[in-house]
Amino acid sequence: MKETRVSKKINLKYPIIQGPFGGGLSSTKLLATVSNSGGLGSFGAHHLQPIQIKKLCSEILTLTRNPFAINLWISDQDDNGLQMSQADFEKTYQVLKPYFDELNLSKPEYPSRFGEKFTEQIEAILEIKPPVFSFVYGIPDRAILSECRRRNIVTMGTAITPDEAVALDQAGVDLIVATGFEAGGHRVSFLKEAEKSLYGTLSLIPQTVDKVKAPVIAAGGIADWRGVKAALTLGAEGVQVGTAFLATEESNADNLHRLKLFSPEAKNTALTRVYSGRLARGIENRMMLEHEVHAPYPAQSWFTGKIKTEAIKQGRTDLMSLWCGQSAPLLKYHHAEEVFKSLILDGDTLL
Ligand SMILES: Cc1cc2nc3c(=O)[nH]c(=O)nc-3n(C[C@H](O)[C@H](O)[C@H](O)COP(=O)(O)O)c2cc1C
Repeated sequence: MKETRVSKKINLKYPIIQGPFGGGLSSTKLLATVSNSGGLGSFGAHHLQPIQIKKLCSEILTLTRNPFAINLWISDQDDNGLQMSQADFEKTYQVLKPYFDELNLSKPEYPSRFGEKFTEQIEAILEIKPPVFSFVYGIPDRAILSECRRRNIVTMGTAITPDEAVALDQAGVDLIVATGFEAGGHRVSFLKEAEKSLYGTLSLIPQTVDKVKAPVIAAGGIADWRGVKAALTLGAEGVQVGTAFLATEESNADNLHRLKLFSPEAKNTALTRVYSGRLARGIENRMMLEHEVHAPYPAQSWFTGKIKTEAIKQGRTDLMSLWCGQSAPLLKYHHAEEVFKSLILDGDTLL
């Protein structure tokens, strides 16, 4: 595989990135397997406290000497979603109560905060200096970007429209991940509403490459070497793959979720705000079809997270998020090393 500006900038053997998974689905094992194979392993850490991020990095450093990425969400709340009032908490609980009752789950305590703050998490990133800091939902301010540069942390921002890519480029972000709507997980728009930012990868990549100076990494719908080849042909200089790695034994996805990714149901994915309050792609299930959004992000996520933890214990895939991209029906492999090989090899030939 030819060297690209992405592989040179991060010092990778192959410009293949295992996409980060937020909300507890990343694992250090998956990250290390990919980084040790010559790609870039990532860890989605937006749900972690700063101290947990520091511990995480110490653990990663015992597993790989190769580059890796830690990922955060810049925008950490919608409409006071981090600290909703007790009255709104009660209202949201009443709407979700039938699910809590169905699972015999008692009412959760009103928390002091529904999620973590980016401004606190970034301090941990600057202190531990991971080789790559990747992020979604916005652009860090100038001071943060220049601190990253000073500390030799490569910055990797995410765009889901060409305009977002231009904004990241103008801010001086090192590498740009351009993600089409085929992708599993959240539509991480920051200039316009997510529903008005729906580009497919095939349209997004060449337009983005034409508009920005920074190297572009293609994401969304890539599950084997054919997707990699197509992305490179369109001008991308690297690829980021999520769903195919999420489905491996090395990820931290629950077994129920993993089985669904390999099931015929995986061909029915949809975009929904039901699970977190923000738009995201997953396998269509009962909760997605019958529930609605009643709280801003991340409060909505906090409530459905309580339901998900219990649903997993009871084997109830109808009441939990099943994040999944549109290319899941292409999945074949259960181990990260096999997925990695399927991305760089066409039969026995290195792309
Ligand atoms: C369960 C799940 C969680 C994700 N969480 C994040 C995240 O926290 N940060 C991020 O930058 N990307 C996240 N993504 C996007 C992936 O890193 C990757 O870009 C995307 O899955 C690529 O598309 P694909 O699923 O078609 O391979 C997530 C994707 C999934 C499936």
